[in-house]
Amino acid sequence: MQITSFKQYEEDYKKSVENPEQFWGEVAQNFQWRKPWFKVLSWNFNEPNIKWFEGAKLNITENCLDRHLATNGDKPAIVWEPNNPEEESVTYTYKMLHERVCRFANVLKRNGAKKGDRICIYMPMVPELAIAVLACARIGAVHSVIFGGFSAKSIADRINDSQCKVVITADGSYRGNKQIPLKDVIDDALIGCPTVAKCIVLTHIRTPVSMLKGRDVWWEDEVKHVNDICEAEEMDAEDMLFILYTSGSTGKPKGVVHTCGGYMVYAGYTFSNVFNYQPGEVYFCTADIGWITGHSYIVYGPLSQGATSVLFEGIPTYPSPSRFWDIVEKHKVNTLYTAPTAIRSLMSFGEEPLNGKDLSSIRVLGSVGEPINEEAWHWFDEKIGHGKAPIVDTWWQTETGGIMISPIATVTPTKPSFATLPLPGIQPILVDENGNEIEGNGVMGNLCIKFPWPGMLRTTYGDHERCKQTYFSTYENLYFTGDGCLRDEDGYYRITGRVDDVLNVSGHRIGTAEVENAINMHAGVVESAVVGYPHDVKGQGIYAFVIYPEMHGEAELSKKDILQTVTRVIGAIAKPDKILFVSGLPKTRSGKIMRRILRKIAEGDTTNLGDTSTLLDPGVVEEIIAAAKKL
Ligand code: WT7
Repeated sequence: MQITSFKQYEEDYKKSVENPEQFWGEVAQNFQWRKPWFKVLSWNFNEPNIKWFEGAKLNITENCLDRHLATNGDKPAIVWEPNNPEEESVTYTYKMLHERVCRFANVLKRNGAKKGDRICIYMPMVPELAIAVLACARIGAVHSVIFGGFSAKSIADRINDSQCKVVITADGSYRGNKQIPLKDVIDDALIGCPTVAKCIVLTHIRTPVSMLKGRDVWWEDEVKHVNDICEAEEMDAEDMLFILYTSGSTGKPKGVVHTCGGYMVYAGYTFSNVFNYQPGEVYFCTADIGWITGHSYIVYGPLSQGATSVLFEGIPTYPSPSRFWDIVEKHKVNTLYTAPTAIRSLMSFGEEPLNGKDLSSIRVLGSVGEPINEEAWHWFDEKIGHGKAPIVDTWWQTETGGIMISPIATVTPTKPSFATLPLPGIQPILVDENGNEIEGNGVMGNLCIKFPWPGMLRTTYGDHERCKQTYFSTYENLYFTGDGCLRDEDGYYRITGRVDDVLNVSGHRIGTAEVENAINMHAGVVESAVVGYPHDVKGQGIYAFVIYPEMHGEAELSKKDILQTVTRVIGAIAKPDKILFVSGLPKTRSGKIMRRILRKIAEGDTTNLGDTSTLLDPGVVEEIIAAAKKL
């Protein structure tokens, strides 16, 4: 399954295109199935209807846990590094993790959860989060992990969308020197969630929490009432494994659905290859399990391959900007997979935080979440990899389940700021506005994928039509990624960023419409328009143009009120970086906001605003430009 030479990459790629069923059928042999498939793939992109490994039966946790017990039971599966470096790190061997997962799976059963039920997980980055995820998979319940930064309202919307029956949370979490009262947030959310019957609460920071009789139970008490024997539920390859909510160009996040068989094969295959993982190595992905990166490349991918995965609770700058390097040195990390925003933030502290740190264990570096600029790429290469560790710039999405376009460490070439080449099985194509294929090299276009891959989304929860509209209707017979892309003279791909109204702020995906809806919920706000602008550390910052005619007190205080509203409605991650009060927005005669103009103004480039002749009131643009200069 592991590619060891460029020649083999070319051969595998060719085979995967010419005979995809044979190719993926062979890859899938490297996993453990209860029953084999009768058909590797059946598909159409019109409905869409995609089935991989049809008829096959499995449980992903048998692949992530049980199958390693005989030979690797005492090998570390998860190494947990706490927020506070003075606290001890904790290692879970495969044997221990298996035991904990089975025990907690029995807790879920004891609390009424069964196959097919949806379970919401809202937890800090602690081993129990991975245990909760795997315990759901063990009993065939569908997990919906919600990132710890989302507000009560966001949680309630997600819980209700998929009618979750159980919630798993903790009293609170640590983030640097801050404490976040997770259970309080959940309590607020659950006021509006009639489907939730049980809430299991882990003690982590030991802050006082309210425990509602009949609904709330403690994790620590529950595990005492069950044993650690839990046969894995037999799942169909196309049974749902999890839902993960992500933002798009409308106001409402959608629940991306991944299924058991294809997702497992794709996460495991891409993990093993892209990072060129070698037995015994220590792998550290700095993402949060609340995002797809954590699902695929902290939990399922690494564990399915028997790897040692570091799970870090804290943030890169606490207690100092040396923290990542301390972790690398302490745990002798071989692979470090992180985000451009983290790299840029750490770069800004200069070289002092690196002094005396032993990074010699590093063999492979990875980047994910947004385009990595050349400056950050070179800093990562020179200062962290000492010019010896290949950087895999991995392009993929929540919807793709796993890495799609990326170098394969030690096997295929790297190129600064390029995701380079598609992995075997992935058939990218560039199209123009009308959906015509743009052939040849040295071209730019909208990035689509023309053939299914095992890790792709199957639907959006509860609304298949939305899945079809969002991904499969823009261009006929193609999966549309929403990204713009360059294919250079050598045929290497460079992702240039979103072409829709989706922002990428510090690697987090946020819809402009979502932020606008939140701002508009503030009393007194009449209308708003949100665009992205280049931000040195975050990649993109959020710029909001707001009409607020009868301001309540001082403008600065009103801005804070708006920020507070956004924090309440979505979460602190969606707070605008800049707010500009305006008396009107540039609209066409048909009432459409001309975002192109606002984007230019937000970028500070007003020399050429393009055609403004269709504007209803061109005067408003002059006013906005003048106000923006003073911001
Ligand atoms: C969007 C997907 C994939 C896990 C993290 C984000 C952007 C992602 C890269 C990259 C350039 C990238 C794209 C994509 N993106 N990786 N290596 N180079 N852009 O997952 O929240 O689903 O966001 O992130 O714009 O569409 P996500």
